[in-house]
Amino acid sequence: MTFIKYAKIAFGVALACALSACNPAVVVEVSADNGQQYTATAPKKNTEMDQFINELISKMTIEEKVGQLHLLSSDWDQTGPTLSADYQQQIKAGKVGAVFNAYTASFTRELQTLAVEQTRLGIPLLFGYDVIHGHRTIFPISLGEAASWDLQSIKAAARIAAIEASAEGIHWTFAPMVDISRDPRWGRVSEGSGEDVFLSVEIAKARVQGFQGDDLMATDTVLACAKHYAAYGQAQAGRDYHSTDMSERELWETYLPPFKASVDAGVASFMTAFNDLNGVPATANNYLLQDILRQRWGFSGFVVTDYTSINELVPHGLAEDLPHAGQLALNAGVDMDMQGAVYSKHLPELLAKGKVSETQIDNAVRRILEMKYKLGLFADPYRYSDDQRQAVQVYKAEHLAAARDGARKSVVLLKNDNKVLPLSPKQSIALIGPLADSKADMIGSWSAAGDRQTKPVTLREGLQQRLGADAKIYYAKGAGYEFNDTDQSGFAQAIAAAKKADVILLAMGEKWDMTGEAASRVELGFPGTQEALMHELKKLGKPMVLVLMSGRPMTINWANDNLDAILHTWYAGTQGGHAITDVLYGDYNPSGKLPVTFPRHVGQIPIYYNMKNTGRPYEPEGPEQKYRSRYLDSSNQPLYPFGYGLSYTSFAYSAVTLSSTQLSSAGEIIASVTLTNTGDLAGEEVVQLYIQDKTASVTRPVRELKGFQKIMLGKGESKTVQFRIKAADLAFYDLAMDYVAEAGEFNVFIGADSTTSNQAVFRLTDTVQLPSAMAVKQFQRRDIQ
Ligand code: BGC
Repeated sequence: MTFIKYAKIAFGVALACALSACNPAVVVEVSADNGQQYTATAPKKNTEMDQFINELISKMTIEEKVGQLHLLSSDWDQTGPTLSADYQQQIKAGKVGAVFNAYTASFTRELQTLAVEQTRLGIPLLFGYDVIHGHRTIFPISLGEAASWDLQSIKAAARIAAIEASAEGIHWTFAPMVDISRDPRWGRVSEGSGEDVFLSVEIAKARVQGFQGDDLMATDTVLACAKHYAAYGQAQAGRDYHSTDMSERELWETYLPPFKASVDAGVASFMTAFNDLNGVPATANNYLLQDILRQRWGFSGFVVTDYTSINELVPHGLAEDLPHAGQLALNAGVDMDMQGAVYSKHLPELLAKGKVSETQIDNAVRRILEMKYKLGLFADPYRYSDDQRQAVQVYKAEHLAAARDGARKSVVLLKNDNKVLPLSPKQSIALIGPLADSKADMIGSWSAAGDRQTKPVTLREGLQQRLGADAKIYYAKGAGYEFNDTDQSGFAQAIAAAKKADVILLAMGEKWDMTGEAASRVELGFPGTQEALMHELKKLGKPMVLVLMSGRPMTINWANDNLDAILHTWYAGTQGGHAITDVLYGDYNPSGKLPVTFPRHVGQIPIYYNMKNTGRPYEPEGPEQKYRSRYLDSSNQPLYPFGYGLSYTSFAYSAVTLSSTQLSSAGEIIASVTLTNTGDLAGEEVVQLYIQDKTASVTRPVRELKGFQKIMLGKGESKTVQFRIKAADLAFYDLAMDYVAEAGEFNVFIGADSTTSNQAVFRLTDTVQLPSAMAVKQFQRRDIQ
């Protein structure tokens, strides 16, 4: 039946084209209201796809068109405040173009059948889902993966997620989340790649490539979605959904680059953010969606809202009612309405009243149909819902192995006094804490269809398997980790266990749902009675090792001052218990580095490494202490800086050498160091390069990451590590918002983290304005319509 419907269209198109000059619309019109048209990219060729879609659109009623713009959640999962009980009826009525929170080959096939068999045109549904850090096989949370600084591994994790999700009928993932954030109070810091632009850009590209592969038509690739566009990560006071207000320079320099990188990597879709940016909510933001995304960056995929964010234009105070909200969103360039049903209910009436144009609606429909076409859904709507593939791919052994490897790479060794780690199998262990034997916590938030009950390997299970049946592991949960938990009745058992053991191994941190969406915190210490228990255990005078699990930087000053070793393991995923055990026993030498600064106190937030110097920088050794930029009751310094992480071996860096101390705007110089493994074990080091523009026409950060390489060295081995530096690496937005590299002196630092003082100086001999799609100047900004 389906085939017949589409065969008719294809035949009709062929005939029409044979008889006349068939020239489907090639201009992406992004606003019908101001009489101005922008051509987003080079005009498209008159392809078979264009003909097919033109023909299809020409047959569609307005109701069928707005149906394609409607994304609705199934009742299998709830990821926002509302659910529509009648989603199946709406699909049958042709009122839904895409469904999310529905998976498995059989369920997606069942829903697809409703769309394909029961609607007039049989247009297939698009199935979306939050496949963020794995689908069934769960990898470490995204921030944890970022701590690996291993782009190949991150890309491979996204690839595996796509393979599993696509086998369960998913066509589209709401990932990567590319929001930079410098505020660990914000729970969603766990979903991104941390605070740094350079690292986030590289990871955004790796994830898009991993999800989408080389060919969207392949049944094991899925559409990616760069979210949440834009600046959501700067929610004021770290409170989720709060407003953002920032300078143009900050927006372009810090928050937009990972989105631009996603476009460059070919991302198929964008999701608007919930927040209001400089007075205009992202979901009605012409400047973001049209001026920047379509016109400046040439994005030709489709834009979906976040959950009910068109409706939220009313409480934002921008729209007077839902029809007005729909008008604002469509006119701003939003193609698809997630869950809010504003488009499906109100676009027909808005069209009748002339508030929106049919061309705008057609353009939105076209962009969505194009993606369905590119996925091959018109040829076979069921091609992703494949029981056999699902049976083979889901939780496949090699996926689990990759998840274990990814989790080991994500672990960051924060402290290791007296080489307490790695542990010896001969030592008896007291394993204590609410996270020691918790399956649910191990996979963290946004863990898609990952099984929270049975599949995750806990730390206790990992240790038992590694150490065997005779191992002396004395386990006690000991403490509670709920915010309001004051019950200390478990302490006695924990202390008794600790007394029997050689080493106290603590598994503590946050409960999994304390991070992620709607999970902001004002305190970043250990919730519940965990720290109180640590204080008691400390009295025993035994070596204490903390396995810290959280989705954000925490303030762990007491633990840092009092415990012997600390491993940050994030939420390590399905194989977490094995991976952490691998690190604890030295089967894997930790190599992770923090993608985000760990504050000492909440009051230091926002704290990030690439801040400005100020006119009165604090100099602890300087003569004048009072009138300096500092706190009276805390150091300015973080507890652990960006880029920080130890190894069981040690590395020595030679001084930085430069191929020349003069760089011309057309030239390049090579900065080198020799890295030597000076310890007793083979190990990997993330060599980091930072640059500081010493003087410029606008003040520049104290340093910025501009390169990194992950280097494996055997014991005693040395390697020269080289970085190329070009003028483009030195560019920034000047006062006129031109993207320029200005002549002058630059410091280049190469070392183990963002505090390295291993430094050389060079001079850029001439100023150059860089032709960049990031250039802000000379394109006209239009206000909201
Ligand atoms: C989140 C998005 C997510 C969407 C769909 C929203 O609440 O902000 O990140 O993709 O729900 O589940």
